[in-house]
Amino acid sequence: MRTILILNPKGGCGKSTLATNIAGYYAQQGKRVSLADCDAQCTSSDWLKVRPDHFAKIDCAVVKDGMLHIENTTEILVMDSPASVHDQKLVNLIRPAQTVVIPVLPSPLDMRAAERFLHELISLRNKIGRKVKIATVANRVREDTLAAAKLEYYLEKLKLPDGSRIPFMTVLRASQNYIQAAENGMTLFELAPWKTYYDREQWGPLLRWLNSSRSIP
Ligand SMILES: Nc1ncnc2c1ncn2[C@@H]1O[C@H](COP(=O)(O)OP(=O)(O)O)[C@@H](O)[C@H]1O
Ligand SMILES: [Mg+2]
Repeated sequence: MRTILILNPKGGCGKSTLATNIAGYYAQQGKRVSLADCDAQCTSSDWLKVRPDHFAKIDCAVVKDGMLHIENTTEILVMDSPASVHDQKLVNLIRPAQTVVIPVLPSPLDMRAAERFLHELISLRNKIGRKVKIATVANRVREDTLAAAKLEYYLEKLKLPDGSRIPFMTVLRASQNYIQAAENGMTLFELAPWKTYYDREQWGPLLRWLNSSRSIP
């Protein structure tokens, strides 16, 4: 089973947005997808509840007492994570994952928090006990702003404390398309192509990475 975790302890950076869009993308490709909402705020499971029946089906993976209950036909498991998750809870969340996608917002506070978080990940490496592939995504970016340029520069240069580079996948612009899709239990890939052309283009590098062996340990 392919397991993709969207993670960043900072709230509001786009974890649920990425998780629901990735789940919807794979479901539309004909894969059996489960979406695990590990956040007590239930953004992803609320999204699933309003998802129209005629769209590609996504199963809801139940998280109970820290255990994941998944349909055994699942081919792709997408995990949405809570904010402020640290220490053993963070280890437990990462353990089932092959791939971790970290969305980061164009703000100095979020950039600093992301770096702190990566240091924490490295310090927990022995407890996690297996390899995972990590990549970053710049999210909710207003193009042609100084903040956008700073975030891109920062993510391109970002390294783990051991010196290895973290692949920076793409920039997703701030767009009402995400908000409209989320409201209706849909993804970007289910809104009109003419309206979402630019956003879909921006998703290209991330989806190609997720579909390639480069994102699998
Ligand atoms: N690229 C984007 N453009 C516009 N709004 C976005 C974008 N990404 C996220 N949002 C909005 O920002 C808010 C927080 O995003 P969310 O995915 O819930 O973050 P998290 O799960 O990390 O707390 C939501 O209202 C969401 O619709
Ligand atoms: Mg969320």
